[in-house]
Amino acid sequence: MSSKPRVYVTRRIPEEGIDILRSCAEVRVWPHRLPPSRDVLLREVGEADGLLSLLTDGIDAELIEAAPRLRVISNYAVGYDNIDVPAATARGIWVTNTPGVLTEATADFTFALLLAAARRIVEGDRETRCGGWLTWEPQYLLGADVHGATLGIIGMGRIGEAVARRARGFSMRVLYTDPNPRGDLESALGIEPAALDTLLGDSDFISLHAPLTPDTEHLLGPDAFAAMRRGTILVNTARGELVDEAALVVALRDGTVGAAGLDVYAEEPLPADHPLACLPNVVLAPHLGSATVGARRDMATMAAHNLVAALSGRRPAHPVNSPVSS
Ligand code: DGY
Repeated sequence: MSSKPRVYVTRRIPEEGIDILRSCAEVRVWPHRLPPSRDVLLREVGEADGLLSLLTDGIDAELIEAAPRLRVISNYAVGYDNIDVPAATARGIWVTNTPGVLTEATADFTFALLLAAARRIVEGDRETRCGGWLTWEPQYLLGADVHGATLGIIGMGRIGEAVARRARGFSMRVLYTDPNPRGDLESALGIEPAALDTLLGDSDFISLHAPLTPDTEHLLGPDAFAAMRRGTILVNTARGELVDEAALVVALRDGTVGAAGLDVYAEEPLPADHPLACLPNVVLAPHLGSATVGARRDMATMAAHNLVAALSGRRPAHPVNSPVSS
């Protein structure tokens, strides 16, 4: 019988990550496109010393309870709201994430959505393909100016900062709100701290970069939309639950919110008949923020190294907890 530790990987990730895991563990990989069912997960964690999970896997207290040997949960994501971290900590299990390596890719994608929503690129694509484009017209598919506009960034962590850097290239004024003031960036990037209400009222564009916590759930709801400038454009590449989607649909219909570029949703995949999917002034993406070859490869190697370190009795490089008995 092999004496190597056992690792379960809940989806196929780039091979570079699997190779690192195989160097020290017996590795099983769920081979399908859709996530493993709850039953499969419960069965697999029963045998596992390490779990490499995705944001689509709900790792809750029951699952952790069903994993007597588990020493590390390495999440293949920077966000870890899919994991009951206190339950893992209480059991002495490391929880790790993949910060940094997806920052630039996600910031690029945020700007892609911002530009697409502002300049109506998806509507234009549709018109061009379907014969809606009749001739060059002075008032056809007019959008919003991005250069020189005010961008409100909610959450000035790594990705918020990378978005602010891009905004400088568009001569935008950047307001931000974050529980931790970023004096360093205020002078370096010329960004301005603002109370949430001020940011909502003064921004032409608002981009979300906060983690999902009980404090940030539905951060943008009816009151926030009412406080915005009419026609503000909203971009969300963070987590869907930061926004009250029913209220957003109302705001997009009545023009309070002029347009939105969304990559994340309360329910993923977004149901095809969701009201958001019927609105012309919304650009929808299927959670692609970090979806570049390089970012996903680097996430795989980082997640694998985190897991191997924990199994080898070392402190992983990117822990999000301090397990009580480690
Ligand atoms: C994350 O890492 O949290 C993103 O949502 C997926 O890359």
